[in-house]
Amino acid sequence: MDTFEAIESRRAIKSFDPNYTIPKQEIDKILSAAILSPTSYNIQNWRFVIITNKETKAKLRAASWNQAQVTDASVVIVLCADLLAWKKDPARYWKNAPKATQDYLVPAIIEAYEGQDQFQRDEAIRSCGMAAQTIMLAAKAMNYDSCPMIGFIPEEVAKIINLPQDHIIPMMITIGKALKPANPRGGQLSLDEIVVEDHF
Ligand SMILES: Cc1cc2nc3c(=O)[nH]c(=O)nc-3n(C[C@H](O)[C@H](O)[C@H](O)COP(=O)(O)O)c2cc1C
Repeated sequence: MDTFEAIESRRAIKSFDPNYTIPKQEIDKILSAAILSPTSYNIQNWRFVIITNKETKAKLRAASWNQAQVTDASVVIVLCADLLAWKKDPARYWKNAPKATQDYLVPAIIEAYEGQDQFQRDEAIRSCGMAAQTIMLAAKAMNYDSCPMIGFIPEEVAKIINLPQDHIIPMMITIGKALKPANPRGGQLSLDEIVVEDHF
């Protein structure tokens, strides 16, 4: 599928076929695309929790305001981020780069994030946002549908997935086969309103 067709046809789908199972190798293909998403300093701070089993999905649904897509979609991806990825052996993020690049970049990562709690958190949200759109477009290109979600209680989802203390959950995405199309678009703002030339 052409990139623009994937962008234009991706919609937030709420009604999925509960009997459709995405083959594991196709989930892997979506995730292999996700890890090509950009991250600042290539810190790859996302962590993807893949949930396909019925019992866990039922628990997640209860923690997600009973939204049906959580149990009916074939897979739920909980997009988590490691707030401290920047200091966990950062040399591995540049292991294939020339030595001069490594010598410059690896200390720069530590310098950028050390003591910067808000920045670490912002980076987690940025990285997961980038990965989320890659996941949804990859799924669309494979003729699947998705729903990005923040309608859940993070503390409860954290318990269900046993989230490490130094991680957060920026969002979830459900993926499967749509049973019903999305409603017409809510109403996109015009470029006139949202595009600013030079300055506000
Ligand atoms: C960060 C984020 C969180 C969202 N959370 C939910 C959610 O919990 N439940 C839901 O049904 N839709 C959720 N949505 C879907 C939005 O309502 C939807 O993307 C928006 O209305 C635009 O529609 P479209 O994606 O079909 O273009 C979320 C979207 C985003 C980007």
